[in-house]
Amino acid sequence: MWRSIVGNLTFLTIFLLITDSTTAQDLSNNPFAGKLIYQAHCLRCHGQQGNGKGPDAAKFIVPPRDFHTPEFTAKNKYELRSTIIWGSVFTPMHGWGLRLTPQEIRDVISYIRQLAPYQPRI
Ligand code: HEC
Repeated sequence: MWRSIVGNLTFLTIFLLITDSTTAQDLSNNPFAGKLIYQAHCLRCHGQQGNGKGPDAAKFIVPPRDFHTPEFTAKNKYELRSTIIWGSVFTPMHGWGLRLTPQEIRDVISYIRQLAPYQPRI
């Protein structure tokens, strides 16, 4: 009996982890709130214009991403979201998943999209 309870709980946890906001249909976002988050947390590396030339950028071996490159603007919001949540391993870009709420992450992505609009490559 305990086995099935533990099994069900494990399944439920994994189910919730996978379905939580990854597949959330409500992608409403607020670039104005995102701008404040960006200024507080991201600007020091990614820079005022998102060109990767923030005041701290010169300190790092791996430079912060310039959001205006074609490689970057072609990425969809799920790719950005994943990097923002988990970070980029062996770089100063650590994960923000435990520091920002899912809504704050959506907001900051919408602000980054204002700085550097999405341009899918065909
Ligand atoms: C300490 C410096 C630093 C801070 C602070 C920082 N980043 Fe980064 N970020 C980086 C670096 C360095 C990279 C490049 C990683 C790589 O080359 O793999 C990066 C990459 C990224 C990428 C991936 C770009 C791509 O092409 O896939 C995104 C998105 C991003 N940052 C968003 C953010 C957001 C949003 C914040 C604020 C919540 C933030 N970063 C804060 C240094 C930083």
